Amino acid sequence: MVRLGDLLVSLPFGLFLLLSGAFITIPGANAWSKEGHEMTCLIAQAFLKPEASEAISHLLPPNVKGNLSALCTWPDQIRHWYKYRWTSPLHFIDTPDDACTFDYSRDCHDPKGVKDMCVAGAIKNFTSQLSHYKEGTSDRRYNMTEALLFLSHFMGDVHQPMHVGFTTDEGGNTINLRWFKHKSNLHHVWDREIILTALSDYYDKDVSLLLQDIERNITDGMWADDDTSWEHCNDLSHCVNNWAKESIQVACKWGYEGVQSGMTLSDEYFDSRMPFVMKRIAQGGIRLVMILNQVFGDDHEEGFATAT
Ligand SMILES: *[C@@H]1O[C@H](CO)[C@@H](O)[C@H](O)[C@H]1NC(C)=O
Ligand SMILES: *[C@@H]1O[C@H](CO)[C@@H](O)[C@H](O)[C@H]1NC(C)=O
Ligand SMILES: *[C@@H]1O[C@H](CO)[C@@H](O)[C@H](O)[C@H]1NC(C)=O
Ligand SMILES: *[C@@H]1O[C@H](CO)[C@@H](O)[C@H](O)[C@H]1NC(C)=O
Ligand SMILES: [Zn+2]
Repeated sequence: MVRLGDLLVSLPFGLFLLLSGAFITIPGANAWSKEGHEMTCLIAQAFLKPEASEAISHLLPPNVKGNLSALCTWPDQIRHWYKYRWTSPLHFIDTPDDACTFDYSRDCHDPKGVKDMCVAGAIKNFTSQLSHYKEGTSDRRYNMTEALLFLSHFMGDVHQPMHVGFTTDEGGNTINLRWFKHKSNLHHVWDREIILTALSDYYDKDVSLLLQDIERNITDGMWADDDTSWEHCNDLSHCVNNWAKESIQVACKWGYEGVQSGMTLSDEYFDSRMPFVMKRIAQGGIRLVMILNQVFGDDHEEGFATAT
């Protein structure tokens, strides 16, 4: 299956220029939006332990001053560059239409069938790379800065339900519809529209107010009893599979349910789906910081298995 991004890089440059004008109107076609990724990373940052915080400051370029979330969308920006084309399939998982399940050995591959090339495989890969950080500079086979940015981004993606969607409709990307009065598609509704509508209806268009609300709900609000179970993880492979399963289940039950091309989605869809979007952002942040504290922490607890 050819996705928009793959198509673009394979087109002759002139044709690309001609077509790009048309594609620019599809903002972030395959991406948990800027706001979603930033919030996931900001939540993680709020719960970093000192050793992890210090390691991250070392790895990030000096200009961002230790602010991970400033670079959490970097993998979306570079995925179409020639050098990073291999990363394009790592943002999502295509599962069989209507199966509503995720099976790593069946589903985690790129469109050509190369194994492990999906968001679940990528999370294991970059966690495993980062786990070598503590061994010291001389022994580093991979670019740890890139591994950190990829991991942080993909933890957002695996929690966006429509990033673990059906194959034929490309995770809802080809289901064109209206969001209130403007044109959109089902994937984008979950990437960005719901967040933007929430921001403008309830948070005065201020991401930091929404973030405070999410953090409050994590520490002593409606998720306070859940967040320890969210971050419980002994075996990373097992956990990642569960996170992807949660996503496809939400996608089936709440994303795709009752939606057809050409429809208009508005208040009813927004009100009933917004809580899921917020919960997935919160879970992504809590689980990202769980991994970061684990790989960079200086405790002697047994880490989880990360072999890939
Ligand atoms: C970190 O970066 C995010 C995203 O760019 C921004 O919203 C936030 O204000 C920054 N925080 C600090 C402390 O600079
Ligand atoms: C793991 O990362 C390396 C580069 O750091 C890359 O070559 C490989 O394809 C990646 N595999 C997955 C499953 O992400
Ligand atoms: C690691 O990757 C970053 C981002 O692509 C790059 O700026 C940096 O120079 C790389 N570091 C090394 C040591 O190659
Ligand atoms: C936080 O919890 C309150 C009440 O329990 C709820 O109304 C609100 O929508 C929640 N905020 C988010 C961002 O989920
Ligand atoms: Zn992505």
